Amino acid sequence: ALVEKGSYRHFMEKEVHEQPESTQRTLTAYLDPVTGGVRADIKAGVDFSTVSRLQIIACGTAYYAGSIARYAFEKLAGLPVDVEVASEFRYRSPAMMPGVLAVAVSQSGETADTLAALRWCQSQGLKTAAVVNVHTSTMAREADLLWPTHAGPEIGVASTKAFTAQLSALLSLAVTAAAQRGRINAAEEGRLAQVLLGAPGLIAEALGMDGDIVRITNDLSKARDVIYLGRGETYPLALEGALKLKEISYIHAEGYAAGELKHGPIALIDENTPVVVIAPDDELFEKTASNVQEVAARGGRVIMITNAPQKVPTLSGDAAKSLKVIQAPDCDPFIAALVYSVPIQLLAYHTAVHKGTDVDQPRNLAKSVTVE
Ligand code: G6P
Repeated sequence: ALVEKGSYRHFMEKEVHEQPESTQRTLTAYLDPVTGGVRADIKAGVDFSTVSRLQIIACGTAYYAGSIARYAFEKLAGLPVDVEVASEFRYRSPAMMPGVLAVAVSQSGETADTLAALRWCQSQGLKTAAVVNVHTSTMAREADLLWPTHAGPEIGVASTKAFTAQLSALLSLAVTAAAQRGRINAAEEGRLAQVLLGAPGLIAEALGMDGDIVRITNDLSKARDVIYLGRGETYPLALEGALKLKEISYIHAEGYAAGELKHGPIALIDENTPVVVIAPDDELFEKTASNVQEVAARGGRVIMITNAPQKVPTLSGDAAKSLKVIQAPDCDPFIAALVYSVPIQLLAYHTAVHKGTDVDQPRNLAKSVTVE
């Protein structure tokens, strides 16, 4: 069926706005809203208690989804996870141990490096799984286990709803793993499932940040470089935010772990460099807030995305004048990366629109990289 933009200016805008439904479809394929736990067929398809380690392999945005999921699998399920870009993994002669489950994450299911990495894992006798959005793709056919995402067709080259669908599937699987590995009881499984099933509503709320974000993009579109900072699960989201901005606005952007700031990136801070800080109100908030003060003390222009504006440190002088706080919805830290994906996408989208770039077909990029 032909996919049309409808009243949206770009496919990317449409796809960003579809996320309440696309995450809902994906989450309910894994979680049962009635019984309030992981679906029986999902549990029947895999036994994470026999898995010694997850090896996640992916490229681009899918790699960042895998990197975020790592935190959940390790924290909730005590399952060791490696995440690697497929182009490195496939040529590195990685040392694998028995019981490794290789998980390819891919929107298209056709990315050449990810497919080659998946095949290499199979040649080593490892069990494989594929988290893919195109259910008829090569990876979907070849992997031992298919974990579909239900984002629907994604047309914009810059991935948005496929990313949040990947997070929805992977976080649901982390709950599955935690239950199967005896790390959580049925009540906690039900609670985490409810938290995840609440994400689509919070994503809808986060779409309401649109106006606040449009107001800062005039400023952002003039920057030569933009820095993104995050901690914990929002660290890979900072990397994804920087990727999204460079892909469609052609502004140079880099993401860093907030704690790494003082080990180099802080040398880049000046009054011309916006610093986007992704700071949900979790147990690491205070640490990130102190990074904000470090940036401000060096004249940096801080854009803080947080659900705790009242906790943002008081700045003085120019730093106080240039500080922008964008309020995000309150959410359980477990789904923060999912909910905060929305402002990150909107920031890149509106900056690109302001610059007048070709949002859906950015220069030099392909939707699916099927040749090396
Ligand atoms: C290309 C696309 C990205 C995507 C990456 C991986 O570079 O432009 O948006 O994240 O490929 O694609 P996949 O289909 O494997 O998720």
